[in-house]
Amino acid sequence: MEEDRRHLLCFIIATMAGLGIVAGTIPFSVSLMPTSETLAKTTHPVEVDLSHLAPGESMVVAWQNKPIWIIRRTQTMLDNLPNIHSLLRDPNSFIPQQPKYAQNEYRSLNPEYLILIGLCTHLGCSPQFKPLLGELNRKWPGGFYCPCHGSKFDLAGRVMIGVPAPTNLKVPPYRFLNEHTVLIGEDPSLV
Ligand code: FES
Repeated sequence: MEEDRRHLLCFIIATMAGLGIVAGTIPFSVSLMPTSETLAKTTHPVEVDLSHLAPGESMVVAWQNKPIWIIRRTQTMLDNLPNIHSLLRDPNSFIPQQPKYAQNEYRSLNPEYLILIGLCTHLGCSPQFKPLLGELNRKWPGGFYCPCHGSKFDLAGRVMIGVPAPTNLKVPPYRFLNEHTVLIGEDPSLV
């Protein structure tokens, strides 16, 4: 529990640092900053209203004391994902880091919304959101960068070749209650 809380606090700090970098380009809104009181209640499924999230924006919520990222991808972001398989260790998500219903090109139920557990699969640090093409280096396709040991992930949370993280970022169970509301922590098969 204490370790989970430490991960979450690290994530919040990293997110706020990242916010300064991307401000004015693609907003990264931390609209549900969890308090310690909220954390204690997040073992149950968490309902999230996505209606305010514009294309290109992101938010974070807490579920099971972990940071959950929700990113509303733009069409440009989605169009780029099939073109970067050569950069990725597990482009087809063969390693079960996601529920079956998210084992696809976009690693999501609805391609527009990427939902991930925001913890690096190396040693659990909090990667930073770096959505812009070329933001890290000339070939950077947009994605997430872990400042602890340099792991990199694309905008589907797929790990890149040549970094310490062994697997793609995890996708939590979730289902949509309607077009703009998602329930984190519950599979569609449970309905
Ligand atoms: S914890 Fe992310 S690269 Fe090591």
